[in-house]
Amino acid sequence: MGGFRMMRRLLWLIAVAAVVGLAWAIRLALRPDLPARYRGLSNPVPNANSNLLTGRRLYVLNCAFCHGVGGRGDGVPAAGLSPRPADLIQEAAKSSDARLYYRISEGERLTGMPAWKDILSDQQRWMVVLYLRHLAGEPPSGTMPGVPDPD
Ligand code: HEC
Repeated sequence: MGGFRMMRRLLWLIAVAAVVGLAWAIRLALRPDLPARYRGLSNPVPNANSNLLTGRRLYVLNCAFCHGVGGRGDGVPAAGLSPRPADLIQEAAKSSDARLYYRISEGERLTGMPAWKDILSDQQRWMVVLYLRHLAGEPPSGTMPGVPDPD
């Protein structure tokens, strides 16, 4: 009966592979992919104090109004917006630099999130991404020279 056992084992393996494959496919389907032109980008802005400080300035001027100074999504109009502004600490923790850059650049349709690509330069948007990494307490790769805390 060795052949029968082998067959069962084989069927079992196929079943496991099918379940794993299905889970993977669902995962991919639920997480909308980045448009090709944003895929795989990494932050070209060096992780230096001056860039971080500029990023912070840009954030405070353009984003803090909605997302809150600390990035928690608790800015002035937050309670009146639906959906509410994202908690950027959480958002940064689960997003690649490319994804943050994409969101900042293109905004989000049918929400209060504006597209910034015609307002801030590429460099400026990447500096904001750099700052969001700092806000989230996730130092980007490379050395982080002593950065003054936001106020
Ligand atoms: C007028 C209010 C407003 C301003 C100003 C604003 N945002 Fe948003 N932002 C929102 C709202 C509302 C959402 C939530 C969208 C959602 O949940 O789908 C959002 C979502 C986001 C997201 C997460 C998108 C995602 O993947 O779900 C990021 C990142 C973000 N904003 C970054 C920024 C940055 C950086 C700035 C400044 C350059 C900025 N926002 C300025 C309202 C704003």
